[in-house]
Amino acid sequence: MDTRNIGLRNIEVADTKICSIDGENGKLIYRGYDIFDLVNHSTFEETSYLLLFGDLPDKENLKEFSEQLSNARDLPQSIIDNMKNRSKSARPMDVIQSTISELPDYDLDMNSDIKEANIKRAIKLIAKIATLVAAWDRIRKGNEPVQLFGDDANHATNFLYMLTDEIPSKEESRIFDISLILHAEHSFNASTFAAREIASTRAHMYACIGGAIGALSGELHGGANIQVMKMLLEIGNVDNVDKWVKTRLDNGGRVMGMGHAVYKTTDPRADILARLSKIISRKRNTPWYDITAKVEDITKKYMREHKKQPIYPNVDLYSASLYYSMGIPIELNTPIFALSRIAGWTTHVIEEKFAEAAPRPALYRPKALYVGKYCGPMGCEYIPINNRSEKN
Ligand code: COA
Repeated sequence: MDTRNIGLRNIEVADTKICSIDGENGKLIYRGYDIFDLVNHSTFEETSYLLLFGDLPDKENLKEFSEQLSNARDLPQSIIDNMKNRSKSARPMDVIQSTISELPDYDLDMNSDIKEANIKRAIKLIAKIATLVAAWDRIRKGNEPVQLFGDDANHATNFLYMLTDEIPSKEESRIFDISLILHAEHSFNASTFAAREIASTRAHMYACIGGAIGALSGELHGGANIQVMKMLLEIGNVDNVDKWVKTRLDNGGRVMGMGHAVYKTTDPRADILARLSKIISRKRNTPWYDITAKVEDITKKYMREHKKQPIYPNVDLYSASLYYSMGIPIELNTPIFALSRIAGWTTHVIEEKFAEAAPRPALYRPKALYVGKYCGPMGCEYIPINNRSEKN
């Protein structure tokens, strides 16, 4: 058996003060605070402040931070125009990634890489990405982007309003706000590591976030929530779950939304999202929560019966049914993940650039074992192109 830590599993690549995950016991802590406490008492704005500044704000700090977010929500008209010129079939994650890379054009402070400039950039990014996701969804459907609901409304409410052109109910707004808190941070996951790795080259924050968005789009990471919803639609009915899951697993396929690289028990976020999904599914009379819960049960049972490594729900399993039941289109599942995780990404970029605590790599540069090819690990003879046989 290969005992090396392929894929950097179990390798500590840096120190961090931002987030702690206890995968054995299903605990998630942001800056010392348990995720359950944040979900019960906090808001996305307050949680973003906690991540960025390291501690909970007082009333005055929170007011000021919320105002800074409100003031930064608008997108320049030229960015909206550029989005209008894109193919309507462009994938939302691609549009978001490339539009984020336009933002430095409008940042008048780009020559400065001091911490304060990066904090301002983080606030702009957290605010603008929500406007961008909502605007693209409307533009691709041939609609005009909707103006902000209002400075007094929180981030979650503003996003839902800009997306649907309707004022969301207080309950749905709060449920969405909780979902944003749950997705805001998760230590050195693939996209955050991508952001930090780029930051270690001293690239600017927008470049780091562009890289993180690319990493998040993959179906083994943030893209899983789109695959989960496709799976639920394919299953269609709670009575079909048993057969569908068994066939998938018998054929060596994966059940999206199940399994995690760190959690060896239920992801605490999945527990909370399951409850939220149930509330919305019951309220809107959709089958998606029930189908998801059965997928979880049957997958666990299958793994037990086949004496395979147990797998548990991850954050993507129940967010899919939650968003779909709220009427949010499938393709927005991953962009919504991004508009929350950007709070964590930007915080990590700042930690990567400015943390004083050693050890911290000046530049990430892992090592790979070169295993060579058919002509041996090295010393291949160069054969001019006209003399090469097909096997070459
Ligand atoms: N469905 C079926 N089997 C799964 C599985 C899933 N979702 N997740 C893991 N397994 C199985 C693997 O097939 C493997 O079995 P084997 O040892 O018989 O080959 C074993 O569990 C370990 O898988 P591995 O991919 O090495 O474990 P990991 O801990 O690195 O996997 C994920 C983490 C996230 C990549 C994996 O669980 C997965 O692909 N999940 C589905 C995608 C998903 O939901 N991603 C979002 C993550 S938040």
